[in-house]
Amino acid sequence: MGALVEARDLKKYFPVKKGFRQMFKGAEFVKAVDGVSFALERGKVLVLAGESGSGKTTVARLVLRAIDPDAGSIMFEGNDVTRYEGSQLKHFRASVHMVYQDPYSSLSPRMKVMDIVMEPLTVHDRKSSKKEKEEKVLISLDEVRLAPEIAQRLPHMLSGGQRQRVAIARALVTKPALIVADEPVSMLDVSVRGEILELMHGLKAKHGISYIYITHDLSTARYVGDDIAVMNAGRIVETGPIDKVLLDPEHAYTQSLIAAIPDPDRGLY
Ligand SMILES: Nc1ncnc2c1ncn2[C@@H]1O[C@H](COP(=O)(O)OP(=O)(O)OP(=O)(O)O)[C@@H](O)[C@H]1O
Ligand SMILES: [Mg+2]
Repeated sequence: MGALVEARDLKKYFPVKKGFRQMFKGAEFVKAVDGVSFALERGKVLVLAGESGSGKTTVARLVLRAIDPDAGSIMFEGNDVTRYEGSQLKHFRASVHMVYQDPYSSLSPRMKVMDIVMEPLTVHDRKSSKKEKEEKVLISLDEVRLAPEIAQRLPHMLSGGQRQRVAIARALVTKPALIVADEPVSMLDVSVRGEILELMHGLKAKHGISYIYITHDLSTARYVGDDIAVMNAGRIVETGPIDKVLLDPEHAYTQSLIAAIPDPDRGLY
């Protein structure tokens, strides 16, 4: 069986407004993603690392079909999802989810947890009754170790860690093969970061879920990742098994990222 996700030569250029071109040396486009290829195997975690602005989130949005690529293809479970449109695209978008960095703005403030987690099912699972969908939500909450009564609460009543669990429950409810997590723990208190990483790790082992895990924090990357792709200016400059790349980086850019880890002894656990 082939890879779960295979990106080939993805490109996404964003136009620069006239008044801003001076800032970009007169360029008409920001080459946010400029020829990115990678493969993600089932049940594996690919870490996308790189400085701010290197194109990590844009790659994620392309993979989830939140935005259209200018060039390249994305194979997902053997299908070219860059060709999807209409209901097929809607279905695909409902089945793969992103867990965002900011748990305070990523959940609709006026929706109860029950409805937030159920939302992907309204597109994805039209056969089940309301009651069956509620059951699925409660199972999903249980998977992320949230008590059933949390379902009746609004996001502002939850801690940051609980909110991130809700975001993961929402991503899980459609039983996806892939979850994309974009800096999911960087805004959380250090004391709950480990719990959330542990949770994601457990879900990977239990359900064989694959992750694309975006971070510029290489100290957590080694804990969660199987492979790493290091991005710089829209391109992958180095990729391979994470232990190898972090312990023996070949590219100068990767070396500089590793050198920037505040406390390497504590960092590379
Ligand atoms: N919708 C957009 N319109 C115009 N430019 C964009 C848009 N989205 C991203 N960019 C630009 O594309 C480049 C890559 O952005 P991206 O958000 O993918 O970086 P990133 O690696 O996720 O950074 P960070 O670590 O700060 O989240 C940046 O120069 C950014 O300003
Ligand atoms: Mg980003």
